[in-house]
Amino acid sequence: MRDSLFRAAQRGKYFPMEESVGQLQDDQLTNAAFQDSFVSLPTMHAPARKERKTILWPYPRGTADCIDRANCADHFLRFNPDYRVLTDLALAFQEHASLDHHRNDLIVFAPFEDIIPQLTLNQDGCICFRGRSCQVMLNELSLGYLHRQKLLDARTSLSADHADHAMPRHLATQIINGSRVGLFKAMQMTHFERMSGQLAGLDVATLPHTVAATENEARAQLLSMNQDGAAAVIRPFSASQGTAVSFVGPGKMGEEEIANVLTTQRERYQAKYGNNDPYPVTMSPFAEAVKIEGCVTDARIFVVYDPKEGGIRSIPGMVRRAQVPLANRSKLELANAATNLNALPAADAVDGPRVFPLAHPDILRSLCLTRERLVSLCIAASRIWADAFSKTQMEANADNRPDSPQFGYGSVDFVIREGDHKAVPIEMNGSNVGSHPAVHPKYLDAFGQATTHALHNLGLGDDGI
Ligand SMILES: Nc1ncnc2c1ncn2[C@@H]1O[C@H](COP(=O)(O)OP(=O)(O)O)[C@@H](O)[C@H]1O
Ligand SMILES: [Mg+2]
Repeated sequence: MRDSLFRAAQRGKYFPMEESVGQLQDDQLTNAAFQDSFVSLPTMHAPARKERKTILWPYPRGTADCIDRANCADHFLRFNPDYRVLTDLALAFQEHASLDHHRNDLIVFAPFEDIIPQLTLNQDGCICFRGRSCQVMLNELSLGYLHRQKLLDARTSLSADHADHAMPRHLATQIINGSRVGLFKAMQMTHFERMSGQLAGLDVATLPHTVAATENEARAQLLSMNQDGAAAVIRPFSASQGTAVSFVGPGKMGEEEIANVLTTQRERYQAKYGNNDPYPVTMSPFAEAVKIEGCVTDARIFVVYDPKEGGIRSIPGMVRRAQVPLANRSKLELANAATNLNALPAADAVDGPRVFPLAHPDILRSLCLTRERLVSLCIAASRIWADAFSKTQMEANADNRPDSPQFGYGSVDFVIREGDHKAVPIEMNGSNVGSHPAVHPKYLDAFGQATTHALHNLGLGDDGI
């Protein structure tokens, strides 16, 4: 069954990163970061489930992320060979057939786009795929897809006015990493600011942010943020891969120009996520990063659950650069201001690699970081996720939910700010985060180990595990 995963993964894209990045990560530095960044985070182990088990394992269609997910599912299957795998190929073959009759435990490994329209909720609040109830769904961004499909209210939000009372706030189906923090940049920014006291000692600085629930609110707030010509970033609710991330400035913009930015943002969001709007959006100042080839950069630190020690550890990931030098355009756009690898190719893109090993002396120098500072950043990343996830656990306890939330893996992305060289956290990703081959090859199994552990903790292992 494990080979089915890789047949499905063949239909995705890939970046030739393993050779160019993972293998260049410094052994000793990766190890020092991994050891020193441990933060304890106990999780609970539920008894094995008696019913037929079903795991929904979605990925964004046509992306390299599918390979990362296939590796994790493969790790799980090595320990749990009784499961059967249904990929998009198998699902197309048995189009719309009910799965209720299937006698085996199942992993449904398919693109979000195929899985989501076929989901329903039963009266127990359990997600069903083609009539079969699913105990677990992987991936924090699943909550956003469920929200748009109107199966769940995933807004963490603002005020009760924005909650949709027709939708449940919690599901019986457990989401791995289901903390919601990965969905909403404003939650992440609030979390960073709340931790700023303890992060300051690690040379980490945080950014302010505001939230707008509607396009009108966003326009007014952006006008005020941009009144002295300052540049700002506007990020949509529940999106990834740079989708609909938008910018104003630098330089003063008129009301109409700002309105146009917001219209384009909505159109881009809808092109990817259907007839939904990107609100609430999160707005922050643009933190200009140190540059490689004149292009802004960011640095990804992966965080993984260490099942042996019961806590979170961090692994240096990759540095990415934008496609186009910052100075090539008069305004900020995805091409010169964002580092996402899936953005549309720009005609004036600088040739050459866009991804580099973070734990490498030359790259550390380009980012104005030292080895000690990289270890500090890894400590910061572990603390950031451990703190966020322990809050999720406390909320689940307060609600008396039967299962304890499980953390698999995630990341924190930092911009190293031009000027003061402080590390500014800009994004937390949950187990939707891709680019696993960027880590030192010795640590590549850490993602699968963490995921298998989380699934076993939820009672999803073959009997006896
Ligand atoms: N406040 C900021 N300052 C500088 N760059 C930013 C800021 N916010 C976002 N970016 C850039 O935009 C990119 C996309 O934003 P991000 O929050 O990672 O959204 P996504 O979830 O779509 O990847 C980042 O990788 C980074 O390059
Ligand atoms: Mg990102």
